[in-house]
Amino acid sequence: MDGASGPLLKTEIPGPASRGWIDRLALRECPAITSRRARRAAALGVADDDPIVWDEALGANVQDVDGNVFVDLTAGFGVASVGHRNPAVVAAAQAQLSRLPHAMGDAFPDPQRVRLLEALAERTGLDHGILGSSGSDAVEAALKTARLASGRDGVLAFEGGYHGLSYGALAASHYKHHDFRTPFLGQLGDHVRWAPFGGEIPALDGVGAVLVEPIQGRGGVRSPPAGWLQKLRAACDQAGAALIFDEIYTGFGRTGVMFAHQREGVRPDLLCVGKSLAGGFPISACMGSRAVMEAWGASKGEALHTQTFLGNPVGAAMALAALKFIDDERLVERSATLGAWLKDRLSALGRVRGEGLMLGLEAPDPLGLSRALLQRGFILLPAGLRGEVLAFTPPLVITEGQLDGVVTQLQALLGRS
Ligand SMILES: Cc1ncc(COP(=O)(O)O)c(C=O)c1O
Repeated sequence: MDGASGPLLKTEIPGPASRGWIDRLALRECPAITSRRARRAAALGVADDDPIVWDEALGANVQDVDGNVFVDLTAGFGVASVGHRNPAVVAAAQAQLSRLPHAMGDAFPDPQRVRLLEALAERTGLDHGILGSSGSDAVEAALKTARLASGRDGVLAFEGGYHGLSYGALAASHYKHHDFRTPFLGQLGDHVRWAPFGGEIPALDGVGAVLVEPIQGRGGVRSPPAGWLQKLRAACDQAGAALIFDEIYTGFGRTGVMFAHQREGVRPDLLCVGKSLAGGFPISACMGSRAVMEAWGASKGEALHTQTFLGNPVGAAMALAALKFIDDERLVERSATLGAWLKDRLSALGRVRGEGLMLGLEAPDPLGLSRALLQRGFILLPAGLRGEVLAFTPPLVITEGQLDGVVTQLQALLGRS
């Protein structure tokens, strides 16, 4: 496995070692978390397809506990943009771990946190930031900031949008709302209104925050019509609401530009980033303009918003290395070029949504296809409200040869070879 190789399968998929770990996991983990599809598959009378258990990864390759090598077309939920176990990122983590693995959040900061906020301000054009650990943290920091800046409780969010599953983020998430929200509805408040993504923008009475993904990820790799983000900007300006772009999935070159909103030249008041930020460490950020961030006022000794691991030094050091790698290796341009090439190849197989290396192929039975592809050594997931697309969000370092491999398999599976 050199990061750029094709699949190499040695056992049935999943192999015996993966099955063993999944059996142990099932005894100890909350049953709603890791899918045990074997049980469901048995009930349905179809082939067993429990997950594989990851052991090691490099570049665009993942090796499971049975020694099978796969090509990862998910980048691990969009995290490994700079490649799994990127050597520059690992070196930064190791150096930081041997020096200072943890500082004291709001009480006693460290230089890496300062450097990371400076680097993010430079890249986003937004002056101030709040660091967090997960994407949901960044979304909740943005919602709190917008509440303070606007003085209004209302939030407008969009159908099919996904912003995370912790309570504040879940309140504004719409994706698969029957499954994710219904049991908790009584605890989610009634401050969020919904509008169709890419559709007519409703009056913003009482709304202090408009929260949107410039391209919906989990919602099915959906882009709004050209000019729609500009209309949102104008509506927010008129109503005095803060415009929040959730670029947790789309950020840092995923869609062929540094941030997806830049394609339309629209400036947000608040920008949420996470996932690929540190190339494999849980760190996120909500960046905001001076005008909105100043609504927090100065710290009076007790931080109004913090967490134990806020701006963790290892995560910050890794993020700095990942950002430098993206610049040095021109990964944003690579995402645009390789993405256009892949889109062209996939277009022969069905309609393709998305930009750069964030693509969705509209195909019959994407879940069935993803299972068949796993059996052939390629890791992909379906996306969309009805799982209607096969999603491609590979590491931006993936090679043309690796992409060609998955296209060839798809051609065979769809009978187009
Ligand atoms: C657009 C978007 N926002 C927010 C989140 C939530 O991030 P996390 O799972 O790190 O809390 C996700 C996760 O998939 C996402 O895609």
